[in-house]
Amino acid sequence: MAALDLDSQIGIIGAGTMGAGIAQVAATAGHPVMLFDASREAVSRGMAQITASLDKQVARKRITAETHASICARIRPIDTLDDLAECRLIIEAIVEKLETKQALFSNLEAICPTSTILGSNTSSLSITAIGAALQAPQRLIGIHFFNPAPAMKLVEVIRSLATDADLADDVFDTLSAWGKKPVHARSTPGFIVNRVARPFYAEGLRLVEEGAADAATIDAIVRETGGFRMGPFELMDLIGHDVNYAVTCSVFEAYYQDPRFKPSLVQKELVDAGFLGRKSGRGFYDYRDGAEPTTPACAPAHTFSGYTHLHGDCAWIQACSRLVLQAGVPHGLAQSDTGYIQAGAARILLTNGRSASLESHLQQCDDLVFIDLSLGLANMPRVALSFADQTSEAARQDAIGFFQQLGKKVSVVDDIPGLCVMRTVCMLANEGADAVHQQVCSAQAVDTAMQNGVNYPKGPLQWAMEIGIAQVVDVLDNLYHHYGEDRYRASPLL
Ligand code: NAI
Repeated sequence: MAALDLDSQIGIIGAGTMGAGIAQVAATAGHPVMLFDASREAVSRGMAQITASLDKQVARKRITAETHASICARIRPIDTLDDLAECRLIIEAIVEKLETKQALFSNLEAICPTSTILGSNTSSLSITAIGAALQAPQRLIGIHFFNPAPAMKLVEVIRSLATDADLADDVFDTLSAWGKKPVHARSTPGFIVNRVARPFYAEGLRLVEEGAADAATIDAIVRETGGFRMGPFELMDLIGHDVNYAVTCSVFEAYYQDPRFKPSLVQKELVDAGFLGRKSGRGFYDYRDGAEPTTPACAPAHTFSGYTHLHGDCAWIQACSRLVLQAGVPHGLAQSDTGYIQAGAARILLTNGRSASLESHLQQCDDLVFIDLSLGLANMPRVALSFADQTSEAARQDAIGFFQQLGKKVSVVDDIPGLCVMRTVCMLANEGADAVHQQVCSAQAVDTAMQNGVNYPKGPLQWAMEIGIAQVVDVLDNLYHHYGEDRYRASPLL
């Protein structure tokens, strides 16, 4: 098991966005690279893409002009597939069609020796199905880069039913030597990222559908409370609703319509309307000239002058206790099995996946307030709260004023179980756990994939461990009971 030598010839087929990016990565690592495309103009555009990308790196002083020149010199555009006969590794990034990819690899089998590794950058096709057309499917492997390939660290290394296990290790080691963060996975719909990320969009869509808050407020909560780089709606607008909806539909169908992946009618409406996001000028947000910018809702300022008691010593109470000390808020500490804050009239608890109204009824406490999960109460600038129908106006104001006194922006969402961040993180962890449970990949691979493929602030499984697995299961079970939907069933692994 070893990475390929740097003098190993690499072939890239398809010089579009991904192929050009992968060629750049391999040449930057030091390999001689051949670049082929069915269209000559595409090769020229691909070379221009590489030059422009390297120009930026020179401008940012990340590489010298000499390095730029030597990387470009290592990439040779070629006119015929036959030139690829000497390649040690060939990666295709052509059109996403099963028959076209199968035909290409059959051609390559006739051209290349059996020692040539054949890689596919497909994002949605089964590697097993592509390999079925080959005489030697054991040498075919999925090598799934993320866009833009030079910048994104993650590469999913996908084994088909037939792929040679040693070959998967060699490809893994080669990608590591290229400075990437590879993860192993079995060929299953969506591989890791496109499967585990589904709830990030799905739960957001559910929240707007049920009127929890508007898109801008939920985006702000997911960013400024959850610590994600983008909220679900701004991200879907960026990806394009046609593309995002198609991926969801394909994963849903591929898993025999498992309700966990059920597409959203809210998103279908946008697709039907042609509101595809940034590229069409309109999606959840309006990008047209002169459009009013949308701002997230924040609770108006309330003055809090009540007394605060912090109960219990769980992580979020400890974080809150430090903030209260820093802000000089008069408070007391009390032992308790469950963590909660009594701020004036308000009893504030971390959401557990029930509605605040039900929890209020069960605890026989009218003035109950739920707070959403935070990536870190100390550093995150926003908190999200929900109130029970029973919660008095005084308790609502006390809860809002208490957090404002700690320097936080406060967003109030409707009484939706699990609020925004908690239900999203629990569902991401649930999907990751199921991928592990079904032997798709390791727990470490789930976390590496989500942090490096879609820039999540924490691996969802690591995050679930920090929340406490029992609490995550509690949230999922409560969501399951609230909705009566199989979608919220907890993974047996949890
Ligand atoms: P693209 O449309 O930018 O480029 C595809 C290129 O392949 C075109 O230049 C086309 O002329 C060429 N081509 C088509 N059929 C060919 C054939 N039979 N032989 C040689 N060249 C052929 O597409 P893009 O976005 O680069 O995607 C390529 C592959 O990478 C697809 O399988 C896609 O699913 C996958 N992928 C795309 C990502 C993205 O964000 N765009 C991310 C990860 C994977």
